[in-house]
Amino acid sequence: MCGIFGMIGDSNTTKLLMQGLKRMEYRGYDSSGICIVDNNEFIRRRAVGELSNLEPLVVNLPNAECGIAHTRWATHGPPTEDNAHPHMSPKLDVAVVHNGIIENEVELRKELSSIDKNIIFKSDTDSEIIAHLLSNEIKNSGLDLKKSKDEEFISCWKKVIDKLEGSFALAVILKGRNDFILFARKFAPLVISHDGNKGILASDVSCIVGITDKVHYLEEGDWGLINKNGLKIFNIDGDLVEKEPKKLEWTLGDAELGGYPTFMLKEIYEQPRVVRDCLRGRLSREKIKGVSIPFNPRLLRIVGCGTAYNAGLLARYYIEQLSKIPVILDHAHEFRYGAPSGPKSLVIGISQSGETADTLAAIQAAHERGYPTLGIVNVESSTIARNVDTMIGIRAGPEIGVASTKAFTGQVLGGLLVAMKLGQDSKNFHREDLSYFDRHARMLPTSIERMLNDQNIKTKLWEAQQYFVDKNHAFFLGRNTSYPIALEGALKLKEISYIHAEGYAGGELKHGPLALVEEGTPIVVIASEGSSHKKLLGNAREVAARGAKVILITHQEDELADSHADLVIKVPRTHDLLQPLLYNIICQLLSLNIAEERGCNVDRPRNLAKSVTVE
Ligand code: F6R
Repeated sequence: MCGIFGMIGDSNTTKLLMQGLKRMEYRGYDSSGICIVDNNEFIRRRAVGELSNLEPLVVNLPNAECGIAHTRWATHGPPTEDNAHPHMSPKLDVAVVHNGIIENEVELRKELSSIDKNIIFKSDTDSEIIAHLLSNEIKNSGLDLKKSKDEEFISCWKKVIDKLEGSFALAVILKGRNDFILFARKFAPLVISHDGNKGILASDVSCIVGITDKVHYLEEGDWGLINKNGLKIFNIDGDLVEKEPKKLEWTLGDAELGGYPTFMLKEIYEQPRVVRDCLRGRLSREKIKGVSIPFNPRLLRIVGCGTAYNAGLLARYYIEQLSKIPVILDHAHEFRYGAPSGPKSLVIGISQSGETADTLAAIQAAHERGYPTLGIVNVESSTIARNVDTMIGIRAGPEIGVASTKAFTGQVLGGLLVAMKLGQDSKNFHREDLSYFDRHARMLPTSIERMLNDQNIKTKLWEAQQYFVDKNHAFFLGRNTSYPIALEGALKLKEISYIHAEGYAGGELKHGPLALVEEGTPIVVIASEGSSHKKLLGNAREVAARGAKVILITHQEDELADSHADLVIKVPRTHDLLQPLLYNIICQLLSLNIAEERGCNVDRPRNLAKSVTVE
């Protein structure tokens, strides 16, 4: 998604803005731009495509003290230079960068055109309108760009914000005014920071790491002004608010590769640490600690998107199995526009970023319907984390690779903690069950480490990837708790290698998908537990009989496996509830290897963004 970065008060502003844009590359973008205030003028540079296209355009820019920058992920109009931010007013006196969507853009354009028939919009974007509106407001209020005071611009800015419907994080600068930046946020993330000399605002904390370690997280509807000396933050009602800065969750190491060739590989290898951190202080032989469930629910609703949805599906199996409480799982975007009925239920929102627009809206819809909410979130300072009634932080650390890897592991563990807690509360999951689980969970990080470094597995993965490299379609099959892994495996493969991949429950094969299997179709079968495993092996036979190349991912004690696949990858045996996590890591590695062999950039897959902050 788009990224915003603004700085004031540092003589190295241009350089730091470019560094910030580089750090935000992982979010996904298709054009970029920067605008600085130099003496009495704006200097703006914009470029389509990679940041390397913008870099040569900024090398000779002066070292301004105030500027804004943006990476754009096209929504309104194609990725062209004209559509790239910053956008300017016709008089070239206002420059704006925007994340989000202005939903009443058409009405606002009409309103402006009725005032000035000759008005020309230079872009297809909804964002440009904001620069026009502020420029008009400044003119109508009779302000002088050079002489008027901050307060006067603040009240113009408020009038503009009040006209905007939709979602936005905004940073605005004025021609010749290198002494302040105006900002606002509504349903789109924005953080600000001030160290007494310089101010920073950004949609993504990755830009800020290394410059400062304290930030203010803005609330919905906050807006204001940042200048060289400090900040003025107003809430939605226009009241000045005092906020304590919070310690940044990121470190410089998080924003860097640390010797790994890609962030995706780095994050896959971080999973032993994620398991340790996520369970630390929460799991013991006797009870689940630090997980509070708002009330005694008779029904649970889980919402999430993409990988978070897949983690939610696994959580559903766990909760129903351990607590016997029924669960309904929805894509967050379906839940928010649905009309749920039935008993009052606990709504669980799962999100790595905590900023996914649909998941946030689903949580808000739950509140409006009077349902208590629980978040399973990675970024603990995020909007979702701050909006839910109770929160379980998965402690995965910043995830930079666009394809979610370590967060899935944390999300599943978060769901498992909820399931065990509900199981204990409802007396369906006993102390001895927990003690047995605890023993395996303690060994899991070491099992993952062993698996990641296992030469035999590496060789098998290499052999498996040969089945895929020149193929356009692939399937992943699972049953029961391995079905979510099949969905997640297919999602990972399609998003980074561009091979069309689908995940199915094995039982569904004969109801349609079998028609797609032909000679050489690669099919990954992910072992399940109990009686469904034999059924799944039967599915493996069915597809093999139709010419498919079967790769079976299972555990070391599975004796049936070898006779049921072209290639078997065996991982360490662990507790049934944890076993899917090991299978999933194999799927992550397989997708990464295939994507790299096909020459794809695994950290920045085409058309995708790290955090989907618009609908
Ligand atoms: C896939 C992926 C996405 C996200 C989805 C939700 O690898 O990363 O499917 O899982 O956009 O994002 P969060 O978890 O941030 O709400």
